[in-house]
Amino acid sequence: MPNTRSVQINDHLHYIGVNDRYTHLFESMWPLPDGISYNSYLLDGGTKTCLIDCVRVHSVNEFMRKLDEVLQGRPLDYVVVNHMEPDHTSSLRTIKDLFPDVKIITSKKAVSFLEHYYDIEEDLIIVGDGEKFDIGKTSLTFYATPMVHWPESQVCFEESTGTLFSQDAFGGFGTLDGAIFDDQINWEFYLDETTRYYTNIVGKYSVQVQRALKKLAGLDIKMICPDHGPVWRDNPGKIVELYDALSKQETKDGVVIIYGSMYGNTEMMAEAIARSLAAEGIRDIRIRDISKTHLSYLIAETWNYKGIILGCPTYNVGLFPPMGNLIQTLEKQKMKNHILGTFTNYSWGGGAEKKMAEFGEKSGWEVLETSVDVMGAPKQEDLDCCAQLGREMAAALKNSR
Ligand code: FEO
Repeated sequence: MPNTRSVQINDHLHYIGVNDRYTHLFESMWPLPDGISYNSYLLDGGTKTCLIDCVRVHSVNEFMRKLDEVLQGRPLDYVVVNHMEPDHTSSLRTIKDLFPDVKIITSKKAVSFLEHYYDIEEDLIIVGDGEKFDIGKTSLTFYATPMVHWPESQVCFEESTGTLFSQDAFGGFGTLDGAIFDDQINWEFYLDETTRYYTNIVGKYSVQVQRALKKLAGLDIKMICPDHGPVWRDNPGKIVELYDALSKQETKDGVVIIYGSMYGNTEMMAEAIARSLAAEGIRDIRIRDISKTHLSYLIAETWNYKGIILGCPTYNVGLFPPMGNLIQTLEKQKMKNHILGTFTNYSWGGGAEKKMAEFGEKSGWEVLETSVDVMGAPKQEDLDCCAQLGREMAAALKNSR
């Protein structure tokens, strides 16, 4: 078999996506220690050719080489723009320049984005929700999936092969290292990176994700081609189940304790709480130092665990700033199905305890009765209170099973 740049998926579909191993932070915020792929697909309808989503412009040369390899001199007739975020569209201007007759198939909501981002106003074909469009001898049917991940987002379905082109939905972080198909990969790695991607990027729109899953449930999907992560040709149900569980907030029976500590006193409280949880039979306990753990990973862990215990010192009569940032993020994430415990350190003036209590009230979560506020180093009676907090969390978790 020739070692081609592109990957043939079936008789009329090629993968021509690229890996990004040089960007440190996705959206300049979320760490990419193992990179990310920007997937793109060339659909050959016999008499017409169609690109489905593009890649980030940094890799446009490699992208064009792959496209040339598949087209072999044929014209490119259409580009489907399912989602406007520039990780999938910033090479669009190059495509337009190289193929001046190409038509862009997209949603009505994407029109103003195309104008404002790329000064593209012509050669647009607008497709509505449920509309079918012929690509030579085959066709694509479009379904609007607003807020998964932007308001204009849509997916398209090729009925003859049961292929869903799902843009950001069913995607994840992590480059495709040789293997592009779900039956060729180490799923444990992609499970973590897909969970982090979902919770960081799409999670706050979980209601809309559930809506999209219900809308697509009637399709006979045999393969899912997302814009990030593996192509699901063997078991597409697996990634649908993961997205379903994540968007329903099916939390794990365990506890993540996230603490900040300037001089080790608040850390001692975290240790005492964890010991108590372990003594009560809780087997899945993670302690995270907020000053060393990126927000991206903290969001993923708080999303996953039913029990969340947050602790920090007072800083300038308010929350320790990294904890303030986490709490602000959690308030926006619209997370559900959690039990919250809190512990704080008074430092020299107090204030963190009050802020934590305010967060508890706003969260809508079950909040444990005991909260612990200590001045300076915890004494034995303070550690006993921490142990009580741990016991309450363990009891609440058991009650919720
Ligand atoms: Fe992969 Fe929302 O862009």
